[in-house]
Amino acid sequence: MCGIIGYLGYREVYPILINGLKKLEYRGYDSSGISIFYKNGYSLFKTKGKVNDLEKKIDFLKKKNKLNGTVGIGHTRWATHGEPNDVNAHPHVSNSNNIVMIHNGIIENYHSIKIFLLKNGFTFNSKTDTEVLVNLIEYIKYENNLSLEEAVRISLNETIGAYSIAILEKSNPETIIIAKLGSPLIIGIGKEEFFIASDPIPFINYTKNVIYMKDGEMAILKKNKELDLRKIINNHKLHPIIKKLKINLEEIEKGEYKHFMLKEIYEQPKTILDTLRGRLLISNEIIYINGIKSNKEKFINATSIIIVACGTSWHAGLIGEYLLEKYTRIPVEVEYASEFIYRNPILSKKDIVIVISQSGETADTLSALKLAKKRGVFVFGICNVVGSSIARNVNAGVYIHAGPEIGVASTKAFTSQITILTLIALKIAKYKSTIDNFFYKKICKELSLIPEKISHIINNHNSIKNISNKLYYINNFIYLGRGINFPVALEGALKLKEISYIHAEGLPAAEMKHGPMALIDENIPVIVIALIKSNCYKKILNNIQEIKARKGKIIALINEEDVQVQMLADYVIKIPNTVEELSPLITAIPLQLLAYQIASLRGKNIDQPRNLAKSVTVE
Ligand code: M6R
Repeated sequence: MCGIIGYLGYREVYPILINGLKKLEYRGYDSSGISIFYKNGYSLFKTKGKVNDLEKKIDFLKKKNKLNGTVGIGHTRWATHGEPNDVNAHPHVSNSNNIVMIHNGIIENYHSIKIFLLKNGFTFNSKTDTEVLVNLIEYIKYENNLSLEEAVRISLNETIGAYSIAILEKSNPETIIIAKLGSPLIIGIGKEEFFIASDPIPFINYTKNVIYMKDGEMAILKKNKELDLRKIINNHKLHPIIKKLKINLEEIEKGEYKHFMLKEIYEQPKTILDTLRGRLLISNEIIYINGIKSNKEKFINATSIIIVACGTSWHAGLIGEYLLEKYTRIPVEVEYASEFIYRNPILSKKDIVIVISQSGETADTLSALKLAKKRGVFVFGICNVVGSSIARNVNAGVYIHAGPEIGVASTKAFTSQITILTLIALKIAKYKSTIDNFFYKKICKELSLIPEKISHIINNHNSIKNISNKLYYINNFIYLGRGINFPVALEGALKLKEISYIHAEGLPAAEMKHGPMALIDENIPVIVIALIKSNCYKKILNNIQEIKARKGKIIALINEEDVQVQMLADYVIKIPNTVEELSPLITAIPLQLLAYQIASLRGKNIDQPRNLAKSVTVE
């Protein structure tokens, strides 16, 4: 994880670095640092804590002109090697103090390199793999009398692992060398200026012309010179491909909202519409997804579909399993990416692997994708971030177009992922004639009504606020669902855990009696998704009775016309009705709001929960 930023040009670099790091904090926020280069030297500041802490510590230096300079790099960290503290924060410098480096990723063979360097008289201040790499570069450079760029190239060929790095040298302050393998790195091309960052958001108000660096590439950025792009393995010169970004500034600002998470929850009526735009043509009931259409035969003939993802995207995958199996009758398995890659999965050439990732950078999901491709399996991607590593590596795919998601807790990406999975399932079912036409039309129609129904929940969520006020101090919650709403129970529990640090468990309601019922007493809130049109409605009623009999507190998500659950529950949250298959798009919303309200009452840092990062680029 970690976020990196750099600038080389004619503007004052300090505000670019500090403001850029604030935008990258979703990638890690346990420490941060910057280094500014000027003629014959550089300054370096780093500290444990957030970018704000760094800013507070050094901002006064502005007045003393000690932060002046037009070249620099910055880093916000999510610790892998070494605890979050001032020493382990980036940038790191080589023993001679000549070379300065920032790094996102993990150097897996850092230990053996470190031993080698220790034997050669090097010393280390930090516990990081980055300090090892910067010293390897120094060793190779001075031992062989090489240019920095050549030393970087040779050193990187000696390392195993993942990285995106930016390096500068004291004696050459107008050159930044960058390289990428595994971790993302984007170059922004302005007029006589270069930006670099882990994603383009920190520099989109300066330029929208970008180069997405590919794995195994390095670039040499020099003031007033053309960018020099090379292959790390053999130094071959490459032709850079410049793309135009389509993100707007307001998409990445909080606006009137207190938190990005709240903004993103509220955006869902719009983001679902954006996901559907051009894909669900409701007037003539046509679903159009280019990536599916151009691979029609593969989907029709698929023997099985394996969905691979992590976290919230994995929960969306579980809902996808339900939808795909129901409509297409193709067997589906859903795998945690981190498990999939280590158990030699059985894959046949007629299988299809679907990878789901909001960021498109999750290391485990990327590895799973690569494994499947290596085995000759067709890989289809569902991503949000355009141009991300996963999006660029799949055989075919679809963007969910939910717009930048900045809150660490995923919300709008989840509902857009479900929306796309619904469209995919319906489209394949149509190709295979495994869906009744009347039913197909009904689902299409219902799908087009979902944004309006979500708006209704958002505009009427006082009951959720009241419930949060009553329960926010409790330290354990259970979430129950059945069928297609079981993954929503998992997702509701994950939301609560990650932003309020409350222990929460999601379960299929009927599993309670196989063990978890022992947890029930008058102190434990049980949140039950109990929809009247669910084919398990009667069974859920029984499950609720069983919990009530043991004095558990029931908070039920019910439809407006429900009477029976309402009579049993301690609190209810009423939601609009829809067909069961689409209900996760509705039930997810109150659970997101509940988690938000509780975390807010507990005074937690909602957009940047402790120990987490938005984009998990380490395995
Ligand atoms: O970017 P991805 O969808 O691949 O990320 C996967 C998970 O890391 C992510 O969903 C995580 O679980 C979220 N913080 C959940 O809110």
